[in-house]
Amino acid sequence: MAFSYMPGFGNDFETETLPGSLPQGRNSPQRPAYGLYAEQLSGSPFTAPRGTNERSWLYRIRPSVKHTGRFKAANYPLWKSAPNVGDHELALGQYRWNPVPMPKEPTDFIAGVRSITTSGDVLGQTGMAAHVYVANRSMVDDHFFNADGELLVVPQVGALRFVTEMGVIELRPGEIAVLPRGLVFKVELIDAEVRGYVCENYGAKLTLPDRGPIGANCLANPRDFKTPCAWFEEKETPCRLTVKWCGNFHVTEIGHSPLDVVAWHGNYAPYKYDLATFSPVGALLFDHPDPSIFTVLTAPSGEEGTANIDFVIFPPRWLVAEDTFRPPWYHRNIMSEFMGLIHGQYDAKEEGFVPGGISLHNLMLAHGPDAPGFEKASRADLKPVKLDNTMAFMFETRYPQMLTRYGAELETRQDNYIDCWADLKKRFNGTPEGDWS
Ligand SMILES: [Fe+2]
Repeated sequence: MAFSYMPGFGNDFETETLPGSLPQGRNSPQRPAYGLYAEQLSGSPFTAPRGTNERSWLYRIRPSVKHTGRFKAANYPLWKSAPNVGDHELALGQYRWNPVPMPKEPTDFIAGVRSITTSGDVLGQTGMAAHVYVANRSMVDDHFFNADGELLVVPQVGALRFVTEMGVIELRPGEIAVLPRGLVFKVELIDAEVRGYVCENYGAKLTLPDRGPIGANCLANPRDFKTPCAWFEEKETPCRLTVKWCGNFHVTEIGHSPLDVVAWHGNYAPYKYDLATFSPVGALLFDHPDPSIFTVLTAPSGEEGTANIDFVIFPPRWLVAEDTFRPPWYHRNIMSEFMGLIHGQYDAKEEGFVPGGISLHNLMLAHGPDAPGFEKASRADLKPVKLDNTMAFMFETRYPQMLTRYGAELETRQDNYIDCWADLKKRFNGTPEGDWS
């Protein structure tokens, strides 16, 4: 079955599965068509300024109060929330991992979430968590919503299907999806095994960055974001709904599917985006711009220019700069950087950062190209070069990222990562030419 989507970012969408099921000219008629219940889902306070005010009206078979019963505690010990400090004994450092192993036991998407870092405070609605997911089983009668934040999903292996109360998103590596806070969904696997990354945003919603002098086009263009058309099921069988709420998990049993929204309208909705449609802008003559030039989505923190989260990609592009060290420069950063690689090779590392891997460069910890990468870039013939077959990304936050015990003890952590800079030689010899022997 092919699922359809509506283009645009943050549009006031409207969609119905049955003719006339979406009320026109009003939100809450006395008796909505088809005997549906009208329900508002608020993504911002009622009084938020118009530019950030988000809500949708859902017309559903049962209201959401019927999709929860009595809750009992549920346990997902590898999904952590901030603050989660003092979780391990690993010393401070720059860290890198090979891919998280696929599960041997049957594992669905929610059970397959393994937190690597947390930052900020889930109760204060600031910061984020960086997770990896691995799964080999579809959710059938299980459903989930996250009251703690929106979920930015970055698949790396295998295609999935997010069956949400507002429509169905099919997602494969190279695409991303954002599932708003509170949205009920389940995850079906299209491929047998899946793996990827998740950024759980506790704070203000991800939005498109301002482009400044770049103008009205390039980077991520709004029309390339896709929101699903309405889809519902009428399923009267025992189901479960699990909720993540203030860092804890709760489960409730219900007698039907909660995915029963026949029509909806509004601007609070899930969406997906194909990273191949990102139009990069970069150095045309010399120097390497700051990586913020590759920001796909940004979540503001309330302090201007200081993001709670920047979602940044390093896409295929031409390198043409003259008299320039072309890879990302060495630096120390007040922001904290969680990186992943979807496929190919990242231009600052010659080896060791593999697809599915992770690197973590935290608050003020130095990093940059490895020694072979420095050698190569310093001696390269600077003709135009296409950097192709690559897609790395970064979850960058203003807050330090606290490593979890799972991340610290993960057997795929490369204990020798720090050695990638060991062979950087002293080139200074007092002459303007330096020592390039
Ligand atoms: Fe960096």
